[in-house]
Amino acid sequence: MRVLGVNAVFHDPAAAIVVDGETVAAAEEERFSRRKHGKSPVPFSTWELPEQAMRWCLECAGLEPGDLDAVAYSYDPDLALPPGTDLTDDDWEGLRTLYARRAPRFLTSALPGLDPGCVRFVPHHVAHAASATFPSGFDPCSVLVLDGRGEGASHLAGRHVGGELRMLAAQRLPHSLGLLYEELTAHLGFRRSSDEYKVMAMASYAEADFLGTFRELVRSDGRGGFRVGDVDFSAFAPPLAPGAEFTPAHAALAATVQRRLEEVLLELARWLHGQTGDRDLVLAGGVALNCVANSRLWREGPFERVWVQPASGDSGTALGAALHVARALGDEPAPMRTAALGRGWDEDALAARLRTADVAFDRPRDVADAVAAALADNQVVAWFQGRSEFGPRALGHRSLLADPRLPGNLEKLNDIKGREQFRPVAPMVLAERAHEIFDGGPIPSPYMLFTHRVREGWAQRIPAVVHVDGTARIQTVDRATEPLMARCLERFEARTGVPVVVNTSLNTAGRPMVDDPRDALECFGSAPVDLLAIGPFAIRRRAASATPLEAAA
Ligand SMILES: [Fe+2]
Repeated sequence: MRVLGVNAVFHDPAAAIVVDGETVAAAEEERFSRRKHGKSPVPFSTWELPEQAMRWCLECAGLEPGDLDAVAYSYDPDLALPPGTDLTDDDWEGLRTLYARRAPRFLTSALPGLDPGCVRFVPHHVAHAASATFPSGFDPCSVLVLDGRGEGASHLAGRHVGGELRMLAAQRLPHSLGLLYEELTAHLGFRRSSDEYKVMAMASYAEADFLGTFRELVRSDGRGGFRVGDVDFSAFAPPLAPGAEFTPAHAALAATVQRRLEEVLLELARWLHGQTGDRDLVLAGGVALNCVANSRLWREGPFERVWVQPASGDSGTALGAALHVARALGDEPAPMRTAALGRGWDEDALAARLRTADVAFDRPRDVADAVAAALADNQVVAWFQGRSEFGPRALGHRSLLADPRLPGNLEKLNDIKGREQFRPVAPMVLAERAHEIFDGGPIPSPYMLFTHRVREGWAQRIPAVVHVDGTARIQTVDRATEPLMARCLERFEARTGVPVVVNTSLNTAGRPMVDDPRDALECFGSAPVDLLAIGPFAIRRRAASATPLEAAA
């Protein structure tokens, strides 16, 4: 079966294509349109489809719209709250429902030749759940979905067994842990539905001083759901203007909401485990991108293994909806082996792009070794290799790399990227060496969805990647699936004795991650990056700047 998944309703429009149960491709629209998050998360943008991502997914699978057996749309307008009863109090909500209902028409106009009758609506949280259950490969398993909102709920707890989802609990709006966190994000001067991870980083700078009050305001209900009372953040710390310095009270508020979120998640997980007795838990929904909470669930929760969908935000519902419909049509969805589901270019195509741009480049004998040498020489390297990542994390395909041994590299990278200085950067480590250096989280951790403690003795050796609370959000690199990155780490260790490099996403402030070679060249051209390793080729800052001077001489 050939199923195209589409997410278009709230945040991060995206498309995915599943053929005979195999995920062939998945990508966010922002990587094509270069508009961060693809569109505004407002009801009247629901008509906007991830057109470029959809077309590219079809092209990648070698299909025409008319070849599709189904289009899986990750929202079911029949489940939406009737106009006037929407407790989120949004006057435009009816428009969202109308546009979602019209999705088959919008889809056929974007994809001429598509049969509008093949469009299937998949409930938003069922799509999130399927994005974790099938890709995890766990069956049976328990599943928890938590986000800002779906059609009328903000949460789903269930059990996946024999490829079927059994719903056990769902929390209706307006109660929403995701919206609570979004509100706090906006209160702290950040962009809601986008900058939540900044709140998580800020939470490490203080104690949870208001926890007593928040334990009253936000509570699990003992039946698998929860309640969120009327929270007035201003009672704890005044609203922050964008870019303003935060005070200890703001950090304490962030820490409080973060801690309370973790506690409620643990309570929900314990309730779910009581219902299922499963060994394994899978997570999806925007809240599952909270790697601090995920680690606490892994450490203190009742489940032995915890698997998190790397595209846990709404983009992942494109994949989940496609997998759900593929299963309903009789296919067996295959587990996820990699998040590198986006675009890639072969060597010839890359060389052609570099020649078009007329930049000086060379081809080192071993690009991984050349990068390791540059990193050991304290250079910053843009690393563009293979297919781009699906989801918000750079996982060694569109990454900015640096030497973790120098504490100043945190500030340097935050400067290059135009990020706030309180935000950490993360380490990549060879999978087989991770236990020596990190603990307190699952290993392997290939998708950067958990935080780990940095073991004593190592914190001083890799200061650039140690957050203020002594943790690091690691990515373990498996040489079987990521041989080039593994080799780079190996060569870096041969030079420095440290099998760890700094990895942050290849982009600058406010821009989506670099996706195609042109984006890479633009990023390299406008940011003080020393080396761009693009496929087997290397472009060096010094060589690039030497050319016009030599010409002038
Ligand atoms: Fe969602």
